[in-house]
Amino acid sequence: MAVRPILLRGGRVVDPSQRLDEVLDVLLVGGEVARIGRDLEAPEGAEVRRVDGLVVCPGLIDLHVHLREPGFEHKETIQTGARAAAAGGFTAVCAMPNTDPPIDDPAAVGFVLAEGMRAGAARVYPVGCVSVGQKGERLTEIGEMVDAGAVAISDDGQPVADSGLMRLALEYAQTFGIPVADHCEDKGLSRGGSMHEGVVSARLGLIGIPGAAEDTIVARDLMLAELTGGRIHIQHVSTRRSVELIREAKARGVRVTAEATPHHFTLTDEAVDGYRTEAKVNPPLRTADDRDAVREGIADGTLDCIATDHAPHHYDEKEQAFDDAPFGLIGLETALGLAITELVGKGVLTLMDLVDRMSCGPARAFNLPGGTLRPGSPADVTVFDPAEEWIVDPNTFLSKSRNTPFAGWKLTGRAVLTIVGGRVVWDRERR
Ligand code: DOR
Repeated sequence: MAVRPILLRGGRVVDPSQRLDEVLDVLLVGGEVARIGRDLEAPEGAEVRRVDGLVVCPGLIDLHVHLREPGFEHKETIQTGARAAAAGGFTAVCAMPNTDPPIDDPAAVGFVLAEGMRAGAARVYPVGCVSVGQKGERLTEIGEMVDAGAVAISDDGQPVADSGLMRLALEYAQTFGIPVADHCEDKGLSRGGSMHEGVVSARLGLIGIPGAAEDTIVARDLMLAELTGGRIHIQHVSTRRSVELIREAKARGVRVTAEATPHHFTLTDEAVDGYRTEAKVNPPLRTADDRDAVREGIADGTLDCIATDHAPHHYDEKEQAFDDAPFGLIGLETALGLAITELVGKGVLTLMDLVDRMSCGPARAFNLPGGTLRPGSPADVTVFDPAEEWIVDPNTFLSKSRNTPFAGWKLTGRAVLTIVGGRVVWDRERR
């Protein structure tokens, strides 16, 4: 069915790809951005929306979400996840492959892609496994998965321990033009731990995960990227040392991109106090110094992207004792509000840079369509209110899960309208 043209009138268009920050109209026709300009004429039959006071930007892209399907549909499905993404202002998400069975062959990749299309909300791009069954032993058929629609490979959650296998993965992924998304964790150092190793873990009597569990693998994989010329994408950076290592590697010309999560740029290990399982996440929340370094990394572009690591878990699972509860928290419906409140509101980022880290940066890192409102590009657009204040109420989430440490927080900034391929997939006023 042909999509009806949409004219967004009078919004503040923020598009870093064109260095644009101006009050302009945006016209979407036939699933593409048709024109940007002043006082544009509405084509016949167009839906005209006044968006005065709102920001209109290239659709937000989240490179790191867990949609749990197949295998864990009680936590999330591709449909509920894609809808939660749209409600959070995301026009596209990348689904991690640690499902059951894992996404490690072309048929599984095709399933995620097809279910994503069926959801008709945010676009869903599959990420395939690095190793068969995420076992860290044998490389998957990367080329076949890419042909089926995989945009990256990752053993997220079960990091690749074998350096030789990681080297091979970087070499093969490079052949097929995709990056390796890297959850950096030395299991030998993190085993048994459930939070950051430091004064808070000592006080709580919990076994800690030292920052070095991340830093050592970041260092290794930057060297392997340098050795192979492959593209590495460092996921959920949580320590000062990792930020420094990535900064140095970029200066040397290593092909590395990196992401930070809203929880790592907002919270510290103090959030775990009271044995709060909603704050149990891997990599763990770290010290204020680490959090500040993550903010500095986002500000200077060392960390190219903000990604949520949206990790839904069922209420009963998170109700267990701290040591037994699974790692992970949800993020799709709070990310934009946290980024505006914590980064723009506190002077870490301009709005232009925020859009870069949440749209253009992710598009560049994984070579995805979008990240721009240039005429001819896909009509993937996010419209948000940068000043709206709201209280986080997990009961209103479209996600199936509620595991967030941000319940009750007052945030500034919220998505109003999410448009994918010229079609409105989220309209807060008409929900
Ligand atoms: O906190 C996390 N949750 N970290 C991971 O690496 C995996 C994720 C999950 O799948 O729940």
